[in-house]
Amino acid sequence: MPKSTSVLALVQAFGLLQGAALAAVQCNGTFDAISASDYVAALNPGWNLGNTLDATPDEGSWNNPPVQAQTFADIKAAGFQSVRIPVTYADHFVGASPGWEIDPDWLQRVEDVVDMALDAGLYVLTNVHHDSWQWADVSAAGANLTAIEERMYQTWLQIGEKLGCKSSSVGFETINEPPVDTEEQATELNKINGIFLDALKASGGFNTKRVVTLVGPSMDSIKTSQWFEAPTGYDNPWALQYHYYSPYDFIFSAWGKTILSDADIATIEGDLENIRANFTDVPLVLGEFDASPLNTEPAARRKYMDIVVRKAKELDTAVILWDNGLDHFNRDTKEWKDPHALEILLNAAAGVSNSLSDFTTDASATEQSSSAYVFHKAGDDVTDQTISVSLNGNTLKSIATEDGTELSASTDYTASGGDITLTSSFLSTYFTSSASPGSKANLTLTFSAGATAGVNLVQWDLPELGATSSTAVSGADLRIPITWAGINQPAAVKMLREDGVYLFDDWTQYLGPLQAAYGTFDGQWNWDGSDLIIRAAAVDAVIAAGVATTFTFDFFPRGAGNSLNYTLNV
Ligand SMILES: *[C@@H]1O[C@H](CO)[C@@H](O)[C@H](O)[C@H]1NC(C)=O
Ligand SMILES: *[C@@H]1O[C@H](CO)[C@@H](O)[C@H](O)[C@H]1NC(C)=O
Ligand SMILES: *[C@@H]1O[C@H](CO)[C@@H](O)[C@H](O)[C@H]1NC(C)=O
Ligand SMILES: *[C@@H]1O[C@H](CO)[C@@H](O)[C@H](O)[C@H]1NC(C)=O
Ligand SMILES: *[C@@H]1O[C@H](CO)[C@@H](O)[C@H](O)[C@H]1NC(C)=O
Repeated sequence: MPKSTSVLALVQAFGLLQGAALAAVQCNGTFDAISASDYVAALNPGWNLGNTLDATPDEGSWNNPPVQAQTFADIKAAGFQSVRIPVTYADHFVGASPGWEIDPDWLQRVEDVVDMALDAGLYVLTNVHHDSWQWADVSAAGANLTAIEERMYQTWLQIGEKLGCKSSSVGFETINEPPVDTEEQATELNKINGIFLDALKASGGFNTKRVVTLVGPSMDSIKTSQWFEAPTGYDNPWALQYHYYSPYDFIFSAWGKTILSDADIATIEGDLENIRANFTDVPLVLGEFDASPLNTEPAARRKYMDIVVRKAKELDTAVILWDNGLDHFNRDTKEWKDPHALEILLNAAAGVSNSLSDFTTDASATEQSSSAYVFHKAGDDVTDQTISVSLNGNTLKSIATEDGTELSASTDYTASGGDITLTSSFLSTYFTSSASPGSKANLTLTFSAGATAGVNLVQWDLPELGATSSTAVSGADLRIPITWAGINQPAAVKMLREDGVYLFDDWTQYLGPLQAAYGTFDGQWNWDGSDLIIRAAAVDAVIAAGVATTFTFDFFPRGAGNSLNYTLNV
């Protein structure tokens, strides 16, 4: 597809126009108009270029290097059809009210990146991103709505002019996750969707024929159902976009949650059905969702991927995976952190059934099992071990080790439906009484259709801590040296004061035993290659309480005596 240059670009090059006083773009070439539903169908599945052009203050500020064209080729080759390109403009304005001129170099960079994605054969959806909580927050106390409206208009006028001649593979999204708490603010956001369309109309080019995704309050499915109203009197074909990070505690490892329960699964399906039922005739885009390999248990995560993408597909909803650069795709090594989850996503988006590893789904369980692993405790005899897979209509074809060697279906394992028993003689190749702890092998299970499943063979022992207690020191993270002995990360951390009071969130007593008194990943605990980390927020909470507190670090497998205590004294 030839790239047409805008008249505006030429005029601007001669310095005839500035800031607000821009003329509507005229494009050479034609526009192959596409309906909103065809555009949305063509997006599925998509990938987000997360924490990149949306980073503040600049591209490169948040854990990703500047965009390279190769990344889009890799994403396309992986099987994605589209890329959402979030862009934050907040730090790139060079003019103030009323023109709000955007740095031409920044607009040029945005255009260049959009062109890279188009050149890779991807559909593109681009937006105004973290501006939502910087200058465009209609929910902020004392927000100047006139200024927000003016700036939104001018911002989209300039983006519209810059990208106005792009093909119909490029769609625009008003703004990312606009904070909205009340119906009144929602009404203002509905108005802003109209201002966005006004600006596109004024910008010229093909922009009134271009597909847009409008946005509801906070891009939350429930608030969108309650309060979104499409502006009327515009020509643009439009879809509605929402985001989904539920259950919040599972996605963000809050309050010790590592189990995806049956109730959670029913809720996920219900949430997606609910917004569809509210917008029966509107093409829907689930523009962000994620369950990161960084912090979620693999079998639960893979089920999550399957359920969200499959349900969305069933409800004619396109999905775009969020990836902050650490979550899924390593742009340098081109490796996917969880290749099975990727396969699950692609197959679910194509409506193909996936066979999935079983796992504990009972939120009140005292132990958590996962058929994404075979665990062997150091020192125990090596015995036969059975894992189970929900075949979902497929049959097991083969099991192979990393180098592709197939296991023997009699001496290495036996299968009965989805129950697969790995024999002690096979497991003894990896597990022995004297083997060092850690991951020994990854098996790949191939089925008659759908994604492969992975099974990680892990010999584990209790890790060793460099110290088991200290006196709390205010204002800094506490790092506890650890020698890992199995999976090199904690699963969850309980935080219980010596007087029996929970350090945080007393209400977690109503959750299961693997969650009561547990803290939240990242905000309260973390880890790295050689340390467990108790965050300053938790250290300071101990000091504020004035009571010694025991931090119980659980490792996978959870509930098998695989925990260590560290006491913080005051
Ligand atoms: C559009 O085409 C005309 C006629 O070929 C040419 O003079 C003009 O420079 C083109 N404009 C742009 C923006 O490419
Ligand atoms: C609100 O913004 C408008 C437009 O920029 C400006 O004219 C007005 O003075 C602002 N109002 C206040 C109270 O700051
Ligand atoms: C629309 O969404 C609201 C809010 O979530 C919900 O209460 C209602 O049941 C939904 N309507 C339909 C028809 O499903
Ligand atoms: C098995 O896969 C996990 C997850 O990707 C990885 O951390 C581990 O090192 C692998 N084990 C081996 C023996 O390669
Ligand atoms: C760890 O601390 C908890 C109290 O928080 C206690 O119940 C448990 O027995 C301790 N475990 C060990 C091994 O000391």
